[in-house]
Amino acid sequence: MNKIFKIGFTLIAIISMASCYYDKKDQVYPQVAVASCDTTTVTYAATVAPILTSNCNSCHGTMMAAASGGGIVLDNYTAVKVYVTNGKLYNSMMQNGQASPMPKNMAKVDVCTINKIAVWINRGALNN
Ligand code: HEC
Repeated sequence: MNKIFKIGFTLIAIISMASCYYDKKDQVYPQVAVASCDTTTVTYAATVAPILTSNCNSCHGTMMAAASGGGIVLDNYTAVKVYVTNGKLYNSMMQNGQASPMPKNMAKVDVCTINKIAVWINRGALNN
């Protein structure tokens, strides 16, 4: 499990570097994008929960899950932890073919956001 996340995290790092390279052409956003992805302090309450609230819980909130989220709830730690443990939280967001791609019928959330989720998981997915 952890190995998968580490591989995923490495891929993100590589993708980030690759985008730096390509973005050199227009020289505007790349440094900002990389510098602003601060993963030093990533917690469930301050980082992960707000990400899920804004990108996922219109379907995966407790009240919506049955009708719109396939019964999957992502608005509390205990419920989220289930999808951390089975790998689907990360894989769905990565849209890597190992879980249904999320957010459903939408583009991937940005790399920095997924990066924060990956870091939180790699540090033990604590209820912090
Ligand atoms: C528009 C509604 C909608 C949004 C927004 C949405 N989901 Fe889903 N999600 C679903 C539905 C419906 C299912 C069940 C059917 C399926 O797997 O496609 C599902 C399934 C899942 C699963 C199980 C996947 C599997 O392979 O078993 C995970 C994990 C998940 N969502 C996570 C997320 C995350 C994380 C986000 C936000 C980044 C998100 N979802 C956003 C509707 C949504």
